[in-house]
Amino acid sequence: MSKYVLALDQGTTSSRAIIFDQEGNIVSLAQRPIDQIYPHPGWVNQDAEHIWEVTLSVMKEAVQQSQLGISQIAAIGITNQRETTILWDRATGKPVGPAIVWQSRQTSHLVDDIFRRGKAERYQQITGLVPDAYFSATKILWMLEQDPEVRRRAEQGDLAFGTVDSWLLWKLSGGKVHLTDYSNASRTMLFDINELEWSDELLADLNIPKHILPGLCDNSGIICHADSSILGAEIPVAGVAGDQQAALFGQTCFSPGEAKNTYGTGSFCLMNIGEKPTHSKHKLLTTIAWGINGKVEYALEGSIFVTGAAVGWLRDGLGIIKTSEEVEQLASSVKDSGGVFFVPALVGLGAPYWDQYARGTIIGITRSTTAAHIARATLEAIAFQTRDVVEAMIADSGIDLHELRVDGGAVKNDLLLQIQADILGVPVVRPTMTEVTALGAAYLAGLATDVWADQQDLKAHWKEDRRFEPSINADQRESLYSTWKRAVERACRWEKP
Ligand code: G3P
Repeated sequence: MSKYVLALDQGTTSSRAIIFDQEGNIVSLAQRPIDQIYPHPGWVNQDAEHIWEVTLSVMKEAVQQSQLGISQIAAIGITNQRETTILWDRATGKPVGPAIVWQSRQTSHLVDDIFRRGKAERYQQITGLVPDAYFSATKILWMLEQDPEVRRRAEQGDLAFGTVDSWLLWKLSGGKVHLTDYSNASRTMLFDINELEWSDELLADLNIPKHILPGLCDNSGIICHADSSILGAEIPVAGVAGDQQAALFGQTCFSPGEAKNTYGTGSFCLMNIGEKPTHSKHKLLTTIAWGINGKVEYALEGSIFVTGAAVGWLRDGLGIIKTSEEVEQLASSVKDSGGVFFVPALVGLGAPYWDQYARGTIIGITRSTTAAHIARATLEAIAFQTRDVVEAMIADSGIDLHELRVDGGAVKNDLLLQIQADILGVPVVRPTMTEVTALGAAYLAGLATDVWADQQDLKAHWKEDRRFEPSINADQRESLYSTWKRAVERACRWEKP
């Protein structure tokens, strides 16, 4: 009998549930948006209960749409927006406050403190991360410092911390498990990626009680069972990974040197580096790709905070497009950006700049600049930022990139991928299946439940849809890129010169 896997992809702007068959094809897909809360400039919050309710509803919808019997679903796989921090009451299961989203800058001052105390390098040695408000650690500290009552309950053992994976595992299991996987743990800035355990040293440094942290689980293996009240049967939850690591898995980048770039709210370029956590010398992150059957593999990561979100800003903030898809048509209506450069540092800049105080900058505007030029400059900015991290990756790994595998919502945009190939100077390759984040979670769950035999089996599903070849010459490319670098200089440290 055919087997199917249900993947839950809880992203920053939406929750999706996708059922895959054994060939890795989509049987059904349901998606709903997640409300964003912006209480102050630079802050991004979400409601954890809302995240769960939306995820639950898309899960039910996907099952219904598929017309499958519940017994045909062999497993559930979870993948999630990473770093987003939730603190909840163990007894009631209620969050103690808003979830602090990975993009939120509300804890920048706490990170400044780490640098001021001369501890940044130590954090990087232990966690592989460049200290930044992006990661969960200072978000937890912020929650504990905001309210003495929250601190008291945390010290007393009444509260649980989790990133979204832990929260969904808790909810799916009916409050039975409090766990996280290696990939998500490695994004908290509290996990020792060398020793593979929570770092007592960093917990003490930030005065965070250890007992609020979840236990560890493998990325593939039966973690718990979904409570039968949810889908009518106790389906095993057998795979979990942060969304970028799941995409790396879904793109079947199983060997060192294989890389992918996912275009979502932000863009995240990850390269598999194998079993040793080599530290970056060019301001990339070293992170855990996955841990399966006791074997942990690592990745180098270039995290770009705002790419798809910049297009979202053209839509919601500027109102020059009605839907994100419209950006392609508007940007295509001009042959170039007319000298306009947009540095979308809307929440600071991530890799390789790591500037919490950079802010969005549009420069090069003249009397002839139109909305179309700004739209085109936005797509170019996505491509320039990718080149920034790819250059760092090549310098770190010593491996030349011969092509870039891409995925995520924005890869439907042919113009973006052509611009990306032009700016990188290497072919950009789009697979037929672009839902690789969810597919990666399904693969992790399906490997543990005999839906798929092994990684070789998964490799056979990967197929190329289109290859975008560079179409500009090296002089044009370098001239555009050096102007981009000048624009970035203007955006840096804007908030705190
Ligand atoms: O690290 C943040 C990342 O996991 C968010 O991904 O796809 O929701 O933009 P996405």
